[in-house]
Amino acid sequence: MSGRFSGRVCVVTGAARGIGLAITERLGSEGAHLACVDVSAHRLGPAVEELQAKGFQARAYTADVGKRTEVHSAFEAIQRDFASPIASLINNAVFARFQPLDQIDAETAEKMLGVGLLGLIWTTQAAVPQMVQRGGGSIVNLSSIAAEHPTKDAIAYAAVKAGVVGLTRASAVELCAHNIRVNAIAPGMIGTPASIAQYDDTTIAKRRVEMPMGRFGEPEEIAALAAFLASDEASYVQGASVTADGGWTVPSR
Ligand SMILES: NC(=O)c1ccc[n+]([C@@H]2O[C@H](COP(=O)([O-])OP(=O)(O)OC[C@H]3O[C@@H](n4cnc5c(N)ncnc54)[C@H](O)[C@@H]3O)[C@@H](O)[C@H]2O)c1
Repeated sequence: MSGRFSGRVCVVTGAARGIGLAITERLGSEGAHLACVDVSAHRLGPAVEELQAKGFQARAYTADVGKRTEVHSAFEAIQRDFASPIASLINNAVFARFQPLDQIDAETAEKMLGVGLLGLIWTTQAAVPQMVQRGGGSIVNLSSIAAEHPTKDAIAYAAVKAGVVGLTRASAVELCAHNIRVNAIAPGMIGTPASIAQYDDTTIAKRRVEMPMGRFGEPEEIAALAAFLASDEASYVQGASVTADGGWTVPSR
């Protein structure tokens, strides 16, 4: 397949479902060779089989991105399995729980920070040497509007997603010298099964009314933005966090 990512090796974390899966489909349709990383082997296997059935070059790597050794092993395997080094990394995996302050427990909070923040450090650390080898690359990190506009019970989640913005900006500054661009996406409410399942019907209806566009985003709409930021078309976009929320966080007058 030809396109903006023709023959380029793209790694997507949290690729087994939701936005991550939509990103793999978008990049695959534009010619990418896909390294699909997820902690859930039972979801990742069928997802990658479907990508292959669509004619995409895709391989599955089961790894917990929060664990540095697992990440480095997976990226070594990616280097062995693909003919060329990694061109793009999409850090999409998340472990999210929404808890009021007095109910935040250590295990959950540490896992959220481990997957959603440290995980990005480990994958970036593992991918960059391969990008340097090919003369550059691009990284897209999934943040959230919760970084700046948190809803209730989102202390840990907002901390993770605000951290993603800082990590993105710092990585952009440090990796510019290697011709690597690093940007973030801050989605609003996207209609993935996992996100919809968090809310009752009344809340969903209320949210729709609050949104100027009157609807949730589709995973494919985030995938289109991720593909743009990862592509050479975004050659002057560096260290940005691009909001895609249907205008939800635009102050109304
Ligand atoms: N869906 C939304 O409304 C929304 C809004 C704002 C931001 N986001 C962000 O977009 C990204 C994708 O969201 P989603 O709704 O598609 O999520 P999701 O929960 O549907 O999918 C997340 C994927 O990450 C995988 N994963 C979880 N822990 C992992 C780990 N330790 N290592 C590797 N993989 C792991 C899961 O198995 C799953 O396949 C996340 O970073 C999320 O915070 C989503």
